[in-house]
Amino acid sequence: MGDLEDRAREALTEIESAATPEALEELRVRLLGRKGEITAQLKALGSLPPEERPAAGKAVNEAKNAISAAIAARRQALSDRRLDEELSGGGIDVTLPGRGIPPGARHPVTRTIRRMRDILTGAGFSARSGPEVEDEFHNFTALNMPENHPARAMHDTFYLPSGMLLRTHTSPVQIRSMLAEGAPLKIISLGRVFRRDSDQTHTPVFHQVEGLAVDESVSLANLKSLLHEFAERFFERKVEVRFRASYFPFTEPSAEMDVRWGDGGWLEILGCGMVHPEVLRHGGVDPERYTGYAFGMGVERMAMLRYGVTDIRRFFENDIRFLGQFAP
Ligand code: FA5
Ligand code: MG
Repeated sequence: MGDLEDRAREALTEIESAATPEALEELRVRLLGRKGEITAQLKALGSLPPEERPAAGKAVNEAKNAISAAIAARRQALSDRRLDEELSGGGIDVTLPGRGIPPGARHPVTRTIRRMRDILTGAGFSARSGPEVEDEFHNFTALNMPENHPARAMHDTFYLPSGMLLRTHTSPVQIRSMLAEGAPLKIISLGRVFRRDSDQTHTPVFHQVEGLAVDESVSLANLKSLLHEFAERFFERKVEVRFRASYFPFTEPSAEMDVRWGDGGWLEILGCGMVHPEVLRHGGVDPERYTGYAFGMGVERMAMLRYGVTDIRRFFENDIRFLGQFAP
């Protein structure tokens, strides 16, 4: 018994002075391993006379527990010390500059949409949305384009097997909003539209912004001043605009607005007009009492003008070198 106590005290001192986790592990194996000293003592209990076994067993177990606890404590101390050394020593240099994650940039189309929305909500319009998968009624018929109307062919529509279609413009939101909310109304709608069309200035998916104002005395003069103001805020400078007579089945009269661009040339940026009485009627609005104006423009075209981009397809190629140039 005396031997065991001495041996245990010695072992605790050795554990206390183990300098590395590896040295400590060696000690553990030597003491508590399958062929370790303490393990051997436990095994030897069986050969003691029965009356001595309880006291001897208690002593060996106490020694074993004390040694296990000391090893665990030493292991923790060694690992704390290693961490301290790594933190304070040459392992990690906390004064090195960071790796630098370059800031992202919003997509130029998103920036343009937000800009348009901010200008127009500032002018009293509130945003509405409609489905991208539309029916013929809202996309065409209610907009004064009955079946076989030649304007339908000009829209290069994607038809779905179900008979539904991908909306070719945001104008169906005019009808949905009038039907849902009635007059008076002052709304914009910004979203994706689809046409079977692709070249330097056309993509099969693009974005439009639609505006609609319906009230008792809405006039063409209101429309013209709003759009002129819009253009100047959008381009952030004085711009000269002109309204050219045009044709849309859903407005009468209809016009396209051009802005003076570059060396004296004119560039078309949007379509607009007074809402056709038939369209008001399809929206459940009484054309005897109310008038309305509407306008619609292509977001990518406006972004091309604002940023000087010459090929609309750049916006959809997701080339980071191109997109990264639009950081604020
Ligand atoms: C329309 O879509 C009408 N709904 C606009 C409108 C609304 C007129 C309300 C009157 C009242 P249009 O088909 O011209 O009109 O298209 C409007 C704009 O969308 C064009 O001026 C152009 O900027 C843009 N656009 C048309 N097709 C494409 C295309 N494939 N890719 C990119 N932009 C396009
Ligand atoms: Mg056009």
